[in-house]
Amino acid sequence: MPDQVSVLFVCLGNICRSPTAEGVFRQLVTEQGMTEHLHIDSCGTGNWHIGKSPDARAMAAADRRGVDISDLRARQIKAEDLDRFDYVLVMDRQNLADVRDIWHQNGGTEPRLFLEFGESGQAEVPDPYYGGEDGFERVLDLIHEASQGLLEDIRGRLA
Ligand code: 4NP
Repeated sequence: MPDQVSVLFVCLGNICRSPTAEGVFRQLVTEQGMTEHLHIDSCGTGNWHIGKSPDARAMAAADRRGVDISDLRARQIKAEDLDRFDYVLVMDRQNLADVRDIWHQNGGTEPRLFLEFGESGQAEVPDPYYGGEDGFERVLDLIHEASQGLLEDIRGRLA
């Protein structure tokens, strides 16, 4: 039985969806007193925003729900991540195809769509980057719901 489980959230830029997922999931884990059992991180498949803070709209939307993601900094996925993380959870099908390419070459943890753990019936967290503010609210709703299912799954592993 593992004592700690690690979770990596992956999107394209690592400035909107995956840092939001990292922040929301970390808050849920903290509320449930499980921080010592979880290692949580996020990254992007792309390299454009390496070292940058999350998008201002993502920070503001998270902040409205009491989640501070301002100290996160973007990084790009690397092959070793698939060896280090127990869950590699992507936001959309393009992310899945991109991370699967790495997985086919490297092995390790097979990436999965994060929303498999939700009950919305939706498969993808839509990219909010080119849309309006309401896109960020939708992202938060989907992420919050899937985070609860994910934590239940992890509890099963730790039990
Ligand atoms: P994310 O959103 O993948 O949720 O971080 C995006 C951020 C940046 C870009 C696309 C999506 N971009 O094209 O720069």
